Amino acid sequence: MFIYEKKLQYPVRIKNPNPALAKFIITQYGGPDGELAASLRYLSQRFSMPYPELKGLLTDIGVEELGHMEIVATIVHQLTRSMSEEDVKRAGLETYFVDHTAGVYPQFASGTPWTAATIAVKGDVITDLIEDMAAEQKARTTYDNILRMSDDPDVNDVIRFLREREIVHFQRFGEGLRLATERMDQKNIYAINPAFDRQRAVTTTEKGTT
Ligand SMILES: [Fe+2]
Repeated sequence: MFIYEKKLQYPVRIKNPNPALAKFIITQYGGPDGELAASLRYLSQRFSMPYPELKGLLTDIGVEELGHMEIVATIVHQLTRSMSEEDVKRAGLETYFVDHTAGVYPQFASGTPWTAATIAVKGDVITDLIEDMAAEQKARTTYDNILRMSDDPDVNDVIRFLREREIVHFQRFGEGLRLATERMDQKNIYAINPAFDRQRAVTTTEKGTT
């Protein structure tokens, strides 16, 4: 269950609408390394994570990413509010406008709609945590690229906050990976999944009794 707080994690106050910026910032809403992908990746992976601390870590970060999704959507909305037809044309936003008007739709900067094919849920402790660390770096790189393209201080202030959070998440997943490896047989960390082993132990016991 989630409890909604009607307040952004970080305030968004953009003075100058600028649809040309919204055109690529939207990728952190519904793009391959965006916040929607991040939240669903972690909130799905948590179910098969065997250790309570790591399940908690995935839930905690997954929920924060939902909050980041809200922040990015707010940036896109504020950048595209009160657009004239001329503004739309000047920004090269015609195709988006025809499909969605000024609605906020989860898509890549290139226009591809959000897809679950960009996230992985493997059900293996090590594989999932390494996927998460890579995902945080990809999100950080995307924010770096956005900062290279944007010169609006109101936008960049928020983007910098989100970028910092990706670094914190990367570090937290790194700690999670260390914790997981400590708990596993050091010789076989890449082959053993404790959940699978538990299952195998049960099966073996069952076989033994029949
Ligand atoms: Fe993140």
